[in-house]
Amino acid sequence: MGEVKVLPPEVRKLIAAGEVIERPANVVKELVENSLDAQAKSVYVETLQGGKRLIEVRDNGKGILKEDLPKVILEGATSKIEKAEDLFSVKTLGFRGEALSSIAEVSRITVTSRHFSQDRGYQLLARGGKAEYLREVAHPVGTTVVVEELFFNLPVRLKFLKSAKTERKHITETVVTYALANPQVAFTLIQEGKRVLELKPSSVEERILEIFKLEYPPFRVQAQNELGKAEIFYYTNFRSNKFFIFLNGRPIFNRELQTYLKNKLGYKTLAVLFLEIPPYLVDVNVHPRKEEVRFLQQRKVLNLLGKLFGEEKTPLPPLEMLKNSTETEYLQPPQFEILGQVEETLIVAYRKGFIYFFDQHLLDEVVNFALTGDETKACKSSIKAGDKLSKKQMEELLSRWEALGLPQICPHGRPIFFKISVGEILKKLGR
Ligand SMILES: Nc1ncnc2c1ncn2[C@@H]1O[C@H](COP(=O)(O)OP(=O)(O)OP(=O)(O)O)[C@@H](O)[C@H]1O
Ligand SMILES: [Mg+2]
Repeated sequence: MGEVKVLPPEVRKLIAAGEVIERPANVVKELVENSLDAQAKSVYVETLQGGKRLIEVRDNGKGILKEDLPKVILEGATSKIEKAEDLFSVKTLGFRGEALSSIAEVSRITVTSRHFSQDRGYQLLARGGKAEYLREVAHPVGTTVVVEELFFNLPVRLKFLKSAKTERKHITETVVTYALANPQVAFTLIQEGKRVLELKPSSVEERILEIFKLEYPPFRVQAQNELGKAEIFYYTNFRSNKFFIFLNGRPIFNRELQTYLKNKLGYKTLAVLFLEIPPYLVDVNVHPRKEEVRFLQQRKVLNLLGKLFGEEKTPLPPLEMLKNSTETEYLQPPQFEILGQVEETLIVAYRKGFIYFFDQHLLDEVVNFALTGDETKACKSSIKAGDKLSKKQMEELLSRWEALGLPQICPHGRPIFFKISVGEILKKLGR
């Protein structure tokens, strides 16, 4: 007898399930994704003991047909793709047909649903992956999934779960993430009987404002290149740094993009980035929980991001954001501390260890050019050397320039500013 044994299917299934579902927040993620894939307009999430006791996700999506109900907890059961080629054009969040089967494998799951075409609801109960009953029950159109006794058959996993408080945090983060990507959907989150989130359908800006309780709306910038489109919402005066990246509506983690944003926007920024790139240029199937994606043309993705921040020699496209809003209150105060104006030509400002000397004319011109796309008009309508500026005006100029993503050169290719580090000045002074 050899030493290598092929594990029985039950054991293999349990191991695989443990990979997809590591903690309660992963269950929440999968259930919320299913609700969104079912075109729900409202998603309700409730948990007890950080999901260790109970996770309930209720939606008003299209529902599940009676005959499909017993299938949803089977491995590889999905309505979202049919053949291998479909993997290259996935538009739904789910496609593997393994989320519900994995959850069912390691818990007691109740799926109650009424399909929009049926006038009755049905309920399926399974424990440890085995269906116990399917019965008729009253239920509105949509689906409710209740997960209890999570990891009852994986005692080690259960032991490694963190405190209810920590698990709750992960769950909130998960719901917040999907709520950001789907502002048109209402979300409710109740934890230990407490209403943590209650979000009405709204725009992305309003949703960001509401979730993070910001004082003013985030900046909004859009860009596109031959690869696709990008839109970013950011707020540079946040309590910490927080970045959300969505690719074709799917939350993703990509270290390079994350680092890029951090370097670009600083460490006190909240940013929500939406990327739209044709699915065939992205491999979403590289991570067991689909969190990491691989771009087939990572450089072009970075180029696209660069465009958001004006990192290109070609003229900036007119920006919706500035066009729609000339009010100062829409803009955030600049990250720069204004030190003063010199010879009615230069604006001197301080930021993060550097002193900046801005050409006031070019600073205004680059913004006007972004708005009009017309060099001559931009030049004529801009502040000139010799114009005396108030502190408020200088702040506004810098805010607008920041909102454009800090372009470094004017339309004619001249640098907008010169900067010198305070360290260098001190060195010159023999310190
Ligand atoms: N809330 C829901 N509303 C309607 N249908 C649902 C819902 N949840 C699950 N389903 C149905 O059950 C099927 C199985 O769900 P499951 O999450 O296991 O797989 P998937 O979403 O297709 O793929 P993945 O494993 O990548 O999430 C889905 O394809 C869908 O047809
Ligand atoms: Mg799914």
